[in-house]
Amino acid sequence: MIVDFKRPSFHIKYLSSLTSNKWIRLALSNPIDMLIDHAHCERKAAGVAIQLMFRYPSEPDLAEVLSPIAREELEHFEKILYFLKDLGHSLKALHPPPYGAELSKSIRKDEPNRMLDSFLIAGLIEARSHERLSLLALNSEKESFKLLYNSLLESEARHFGIYWKLAQSKYSKNDTFKRLEELSKIESKIISKTFSMPRVHS
Ligand SMILES: [Fe+2]
Ligand SMILES: [Fe+2]
Repeated sequence: MIVDFKRPSFHIKYLSSLTSNKWIRLALSNPIDMLIDHAHCERKAAGVAIQLMFRYPSEPDLAEVLSPIAREELEHFEKILYFLKDLGHSLKALHPPPYGAELSKSIRKDEPNRMLDSFLIAGLIEARSHERLSLLALNSEKESFKLLYNSLLESEARHFGIYWKLAQSKYSKNDTFKRLEELSKIESKIISKTFSMPRVHS
């Protein structure tokens, strides 16, 4: 059966590819696993922001931007945690898709390249999360799920913008765009590889 899923009307220009129908189908058929994985993603996103604050403690104007992101991601984490609890579920360990680890391999080891790549990859993950949460908000069957996803997706778009601005404030426009284009292609390649379990970034 061919199903036409609803797609967001906007296009996230930083992503080189669109999410497949196969992912949407897998995600919609496994709403609880998706929620649990999503909670882990929020926890990890907070961790990324905190990790960058620790790695660059004296970088000007960095903590002011990253600390609110970490706080907001933890609020998202708690929101999903309680949503799960209300449904009679709780957090459990899930085998993660290779997405994050594979993307991290593209972070160059030498500074200042390492910091630029870290900002851009964190931003691309936010952009992909935004795309996928939009798909879940549009296509989830239950109204409570739609509301939950709708309440979270706007922040992910904003987070992408914050990492993008950070990169642009510290590196030349040319370097930033060129590297984003390279990393975006890598991101699309990684996300196109099949990971058969329902995950936000499978
Ligand atoms: Fe979030
Ligand atoms: Fe985020």
